[in-house]
Amino acid sequence: MKKSKITGVGHFLPERIVTNHELAKLMDTSDDWIRERTGISERRFFDPEKDTVANMAARASEIAIQNAGLEKKDIEFIVFATITPDYYFPGSGVLMQRELGMEGIGALDIRNACSGFIYGLSIADQYIKTGMYNNILVIGAEIQSSGLEFNDRGRNTAVIFGDGAGAVVLSASESQGGILSTHLHADGRFAEELYGKDPGSSRKERLTYEMVDGESTKPYMNGNLVFKHAIVRFEEVIKESLDKNNLQLSDLKLLIPHQANLRISNFLEQRLKLEKGIVFNNIMKYGNTTGASIPIALSEVYQENRLRENDLICLAAFGSGFTWASALIKW
Ligand code: UT7
Repeated sequence: MKKSKITGVGHFLPERIVTNHELAKLMDTSDDWIRERTGISERRFFDPEKDTVANMAARASEIAIQNAGLEKKDIEFIVFATITPDYYFPGSGVLMQRELGMEGIGALDIRNACSGFIYGLSIADQYIKTGMYNNILVIGAEIQSSGLEFNDRGRNTAVIFGDGAGAVVLSASESQGGILSTHLHADGRFAEELYGKDPGSSRKERLTYEMVDGESTKPYMNGNLVFKHAIVRFEEVIKESLDKNNLQLSDLKLLIPHQANLRISNFLEQRLKLEKGIVFNNIMKYGNTTGASIPIALSEVYQENRLRENDLICLAAFGSGFTWASALIKW
């Protein structure tokens, strides 16, 4: 059976940098609180005049295609992970396809929040293994900032999330490396612990003035509970990927956790007894970009020239759903 390999990576971040100090002017928070509780110093917010989820993704994808040594015509399928699509429907996958002039190829949208990119990677991996496609774009892209509430009521989410896009090209490969395995999980009993309720379809009217004035159109997060589940599931799903491949934590060259909170990454580093430098973090600069955080991180690692052939890399995520997932990759 064929294997799939990441052959190109790219990312795009909006230009506008928003510091903690700026947010502290809008709500009862402080740079100290945000850095201490989350590790975040600044994040990027999109420019409504020029950035969309689809066009940020397109810019990230163009870089990924180029550094895979391919052309747009070589891409056969798009898997697009976002929970912040440009339209209620259709998904942003088709919009990005149009933006890139790749009409005709399939575009699949994924709504698995912070785990969305790994879910997408897993789907693309299966298509390649079965021989259906040879080159697939897998994207994670989000604009969170337009859905946040920049006042005291919204402070527990407003200070965390950011905008950005990352993309990889997954290609068929005959070599030994590539994606070794992916592991996907969900527990819907916790759906309402981290969610965006409205506008939902199962109400008499999808959007009312009351909803807009209230909190139900804003993201809700039970931060403490999410944190407690996250640290357990991250550890489980990382170990699951290693166990499945008869590998050890000591074999890992790099762990890229979804950038949810620096305290989560630090906890994992200690708990798994990983050497300094194995766990990659960039949440300090970009906040939590949900489905985009892992491909952005991967692209930065690539740009920093830190990836060597045969290096063992684990991607892991946890988020809304709850969903959690990992991918073990031999570079
Ligand atoms: O990406 C998807 C997955 N998401 C996650 O994994 C996120 C997991 N959770 C977290 O990262 C953390 O729970 C948060 C960063 C969201 C919150 O940190 P925490 O240490 O769990 O704080 P807390 O919610 O327990 O709040 C502590 C205090 C509260 O005040 P009292 O009740 O102690 O008086 C909050 O009202 O901090 C208050 N608070 C704030 N203070 C200043 C909450 N948000 C803020 C804020 N600035 N922005």
